[in-house]
Amino acid sequence: MGKLIGILTAGGDTPGLNAAIRAIGKAAIGVYGMEVIGFRDGFRGLMENRFIDLDSKALSGILTVGGTILGTSRDKPHKMQVGSKIMDMTDVIVDNYHKHHLDALICLGGGGTQKNAYHLHKHGLNIITLPKTIDNDVAGTDVTFGFDTALGIATEAIDRLHSTAHSHHRIIVVEIMGHRAGWLALGAGVSGGADVILIPEIPYDTDVVVESILQRSRAGKNFSIVAIAEGSESKNIHTLRLDLEKKLKETKDLSEQEKIKNDMKDINSLHANNTIRLAKKLEEITGLESRVTILGHLQRGGSPSAADRLLATRLGTAAARLVHEGQFGIMVASKGKKAVPVPLEKIVGKKKTVPLHHPWIESARFVGTCMGDNLKG
Ligand code: F6P
Repeated sequence: MGKLIGILTAGGDTPGLNAAIRAIGKAAIGVYGMEVIGFRDGFRGLMENRFIDLDSKALSGILTVGGTILGTSRDKPHKMQVGSKIMDMTDVIVDNYHKHHLDALICLGGGGTQKNAYHLHKHGLNIITLPKTIDNDVAGTDVTFGFDTALGIATEAIDRLHSTAHSHHRIIVVEIMGHRAGWLALGAGVSGGADVILIPEIPYDTDVVVESILQRSRAGKNFSIVAIAEGSESKNIHTLRLDLEKKLKETKDLSEQEKIKNDMKDINSLHANNTIRLAKKLEEITGLESRVTILGHLQRGGSPSAADRLLATRLGTAAARLVHEGQFGIMVASKGKKAVPVPLEKIVGKKKTVPLHHPWIESARFVGTCMGDNLKG
């Protein structure tokens, strides 16, 4: 009998997940004579033993479909909500894996999924992962699938915001996803020609942003597009956060720790309205009317781009080959034109943020984009 593979998709959905499921399945069944099942809703489906057969029929017609046919969740094997309790369900998951006589489990997900999958690998499961997320922040791979599609959507949004901002002489502050990494806002900001791009990697100075908008006004351009990554923060907030993190590390006093944690919560809740506050401030100081557009989950919806379909197909078919070869405890990464196995232990817990001298940042500065700091191109 051929090998049996289980697949699950975990974390936020992204365009390209179905293309990857299809690629794994078609290669596993068609080339290696394996069988494939899919667990529903991430690690929870594996824990609750909810699954479907991924036969040729189920794999057909899904290449271009957005989301994931398996459903997804952010559940963690070792910290799962069960009723009103948070429980470690690792043993149940390990048991279910063995009850199915799985030869491998392929987990499609972002940074959190890599961690959870590695946890299961350490409990003896044959794990392979694929890197997916619109945030493009998974370490060890050049790129993640989902990013290119979201980049296209965010760029088109900036394109469209230009004409309305221009017509009304407004500042439009557009918030772009990306969690704590600036890839999406930077990529879309550069390709959409945003006048200001703010990313978490470069804490911004509001005065510098204001001055760049006023300079545009003085040059006769009475509108501006500010592309802000959802994880961006001002220099002041950034310094406060670093300070608290440092204090938390240093203190052994439990009540002091509690106090610092509460202060951190305050900063986080302040962050929830960061984009709106920034737009208000820019309006107050520049006198230009401001509007906010939060792109939100629009960036994760719909059909994958051609580049994401190609990437997901490349990585998915490589994953089937790696199961055949018996290589486990790895993520299938994209490096140049190749799909290469990277040991999970090397990438888990690491985040790929934008390097400060990345060519996209340098080019943005060279075309006169304000990056929220005082550096110029
Ligand atoms: O990781 C993908 C992502 O879309 C992030 O960009 C964003 O911060 C987060 O997920 C939103 O999560 P949720 O869909 O759970 O609201």
